[in-house]
Amino acid sequence: MRSYLKNLECTYCNEIFSADQPRRLCEKCGKVLYPRYDIKEASKYFTKDMLPARAPNMWRYFEMLPVRDESNIVTLGEGFTPIFETRRLGSELGSESLMLKDEGLNPTASFKARGLSAAVSKAKELGLRKLTMPSAGNAAGAMASYAARAGMEAFVFMPQDAPEANQKEVSVSGGNLFLIDGLISDAGVISREKAAEIGLFDVSTLQEPYRVEGKKTMGYEIAEQLGWELPDNIIYPTGGGTGIVGMWKAFQEMEELEWISSKRPKMFAVQAENCAPIVRAFENGEEFAQPWENATTLAAGMRVPSAIGDYLILKAVRDSGGSAITVSDDEMINMIDLIGKLEGFFVCPEGAATACGAKKLIENGSIDPSEKTLLLNTGSGLKYLDMLP
Ligand SMILES: Cc1ncc(COP(=O)(O)O)c(C=O)c1O
Ligand SMILES: [Zn+2]
Repeated sequence: MRSYLKNLECTYCNEIFSADQPRRLCEKCGKVLYPRYDIKEASKYFTKDMLPARAPNMWRYFEMLPVRDESNIVTLGEGFTPIFETRRLGSELGSESLMLKDEGLNPTASFKARGLSAAVSKAKELGLRKLTMPSAGNAAGAMASYAARAGMEAFVFMPQDAPEANQKEVSVSGGNLFLIDGLISDAGVISREKAAEIGLFDVSTLQEPYRVEGKKTMGYEIAEQLGWELPDNIIYPTGGGTGIVGMWKAFQEMEELEWISSKRPKMFAVQAENCAPIVRAFENGEEFAQPWENATTLAAGMRVPSAIGDYLILKAVRDSGGSAITVSDDEMINMIDLIGKLEGFFVCPEGAATACGAKKLIENGSIDPSEKTLLLNTGSGLKYLDMLP
């Protein structure tokens, strides 16, 4: 297999950079870089009928992933999580065709495994040995686990109220854990300071170009698993937004590969009532989101007051014809129980938020009951035992 990675392109000013040395943000404008591929060339050799013979993990899309040498892949078996029909939940929420992709089945029990498998693999290929990251929780556990698997050193800066499971998984995998009295944005400042001070490579969400490539594989899988026809709606719990923008990128790439038509799902971003910078910017018609003051929610993954990829999230949501809405912590807590009782999944609060979002979007007419609607359960509820009532 060969990767068709070409270079890195700034998503804002379109400046091009080499993908063969470590890079973070655009050196010209400070915005997010995306890996770009020679898709025209790839489409001649990389066809979707090659996929069934490949292993059921996210590296089955190797040609469209950024690692050049297969021996650099750092894997714990991430990706190719199943999509389930959830009829009983659907009828409770008013949908005739509701599905759930269960990302809780990933290694480290969340979809963060995808992004960190890609980022740690590429870091290994580029010769980096020490990684750092601020994290609200799951990403830290994933980074520490993948760094351990690669024989690298991990430094993690986490709000001190992050779920206990996340703190444990960092220490179990030998990561250096620093608990911060503050939010993820405060942890980010300290992580960057430490990176400069002792030579660590900072792999914060969308501040390095490769985590999004792991997350985009959710988009490839959704197409493949649903017979190359995307659903009408995708509902996503949005923090830093890597997943939602990653899937949006995947759809574009797959259209260029001629794997799917130009039909796109409506993308709906769900945020917590007390941390909803993207929803506010969406409603105000703004290109960028103002930081949210005093962010609180038990859904640690959505406790992101300010996202560097805000303009990418807002553009994907708007271009798709979707929208952005909020749900409360109480709604999430009740929904965790409802999904458990009706379908048997123990979802995380963020995953529950997508079902709360579906209910509201059906009620307000944004989603038609007959449309195919896909929820992303981004992690396992088992990681939040100390957070749930
Ligand atoms: C379980 C869970 N869901 C959702 C998110 C938000 O993900 P994203 O940064 O892709 O918006 C996170 C991020 O920490 C998470 O851990
Ligand atoms: Zn730029």
